Amino acid sequence: MSVKSVKKSEAGVLVSTYERYPVLMKRGRGVYLYDSDNKRYLDFLSGIGVNALGYSHPAITRAIAQQSRKLIHTSNLFFHDYQSELAKQLAEISGLDRAFFSNSGTEAWEGALKFARAYAQATNFNGHEAKWRVLAMDNSFHGRTFGALATTGQEKYRKPFLPLMPGVEFVTFNDVADLKKKFDGTVCAVALEIIQGEGGVQPVTEEFLKTARKLTKQTGALLLADEIQSGLGRTGKYFAYQQFGVVPDIVTVAKPLAAGIPLGAILTTDAVANVIHPGMHGTTFGGGPLACAVALEFLATLKREKLLKNVEQVGNYFQKELSKLQKKHDSIVTVRGIGLMLAAELDSADLAKSVVSTMLERGIIINRTHEKVLRFLPPYIITKSHVDTVVRALDSILSKGPRNATPDSNQRRTR
Ligand SMILES: Cc1ncc(COP(=O)(O)O)c(C=O)c1O
Repeated sequence: MSVKSVKKSEAGVLVSTYERYPVLMKRGRGVYLYDSDNKRYLDFLSGIGVNALGYSHPAITRAIAQQSRKLIHTSNLFFHDYQSELAKQLAEISGLDRAFFSNSGTEAWEGALKFARAYAQATNFNGHEAKWRVLAMDNSFHGRTFGALATTGQEKYRKPFLPLMPGVEFVTFNDVADLKKKFDGTVCAVALEIIQGEGGVQPVTEEFLKTARKLTKQTGALLLADEIQSGLGRTGKYFAYQQFGVVPDIVTVAKPLAAGIPLGAILTTDAVANVIHPGMHGTTFGGGPLACAVALEFLATLKREKLLKNVEQVGNYFQKELSKLQKKHDSIVTVRGIGLMLAAELDSADLAKSVVSTMLERGIIINRTHEKVLRFLPPYIITKSHVDTVVRALDSILSKGPRNATPDSNQRRTR
């Protein structure tokens, strides 16, 4: 099938929720994707932060093949070999106690909100104010389901679906005074991303995070950290909150957890878990044997290949190279991020759009978020030389003006 025919056929049968690039992807290996013309793409987006080990990693393909021959799905009515081991390992690396497994990021976040409300109800006792309000952040993104949308501080995602879940109020991200003003004894949770992803790769400030931790501790409210994009090694630590020495009460993860097989998790404390009883929450698919076996292999591979170190080293190098580029090009307003969750904000949305499509023409995948922001979420296995390729291409495109730029090299490969 050609891109044209797939596009035509999709237009007749799919709900049109996506604006796709005119590329038909066929296969991937390492840090590269290959399309239907065998054109090679250096992938600096990794399926929006999912393919942290790149494509066709032998440890992952082996784990999928082996487990799929044994058992793919059981439902949560039965035990299988992997949930407890995976929960144990996630507890160890997060500093939390327990896990609940979901299918996706948004589903993990929904559960986190339910856990927060349930904890508030269970711990409300005479003499204490009822806790039910959630303080979420302006500019945040937590997913597409109703609870997640209700806590997502961006009008464009919310507006068509109003009214959303009541009880949510938005705080200006990183505005300590605004947080203090809106926080009181009726708040059951302060909910945030440690690095806002869709919101333009905006890290939380240490002062803001520590204030949120202090306020919530004082009243028994919970601190919820959405690490769906920033977690599991993306910043060079297992969790981005570990960059700040703060431990939340509930943490959500998903994207890279099972290296491309859908799996999310809510990680939490014993205190929160103790108020959740059989029947209060659940899922058919979440935490199935295939996904959990692959997630164990993902965590083992992170360790075996020392990938957190690589993320930190190559991430620092990438950020420095982007900063050098900023000095050269007035069109780059800021460079920010941590590890391999990086961004270069440009001075115009049109320019950002055009840079992304010119990069794609040149065989490099990056992404634009929050209108003007070029976002980079490469696999953890990239090297400095991959960074050089990307930075050189950006330099050339920004120098020549996006549409006049000529490709660096012929990206077609036969492999
Ligand atoms: C911070 C954050 N939370 C939640 C989600 C939703 O995850 P999913 O698309 O797996 O539902 C995303 C997805 O991009 C995200 O970046």
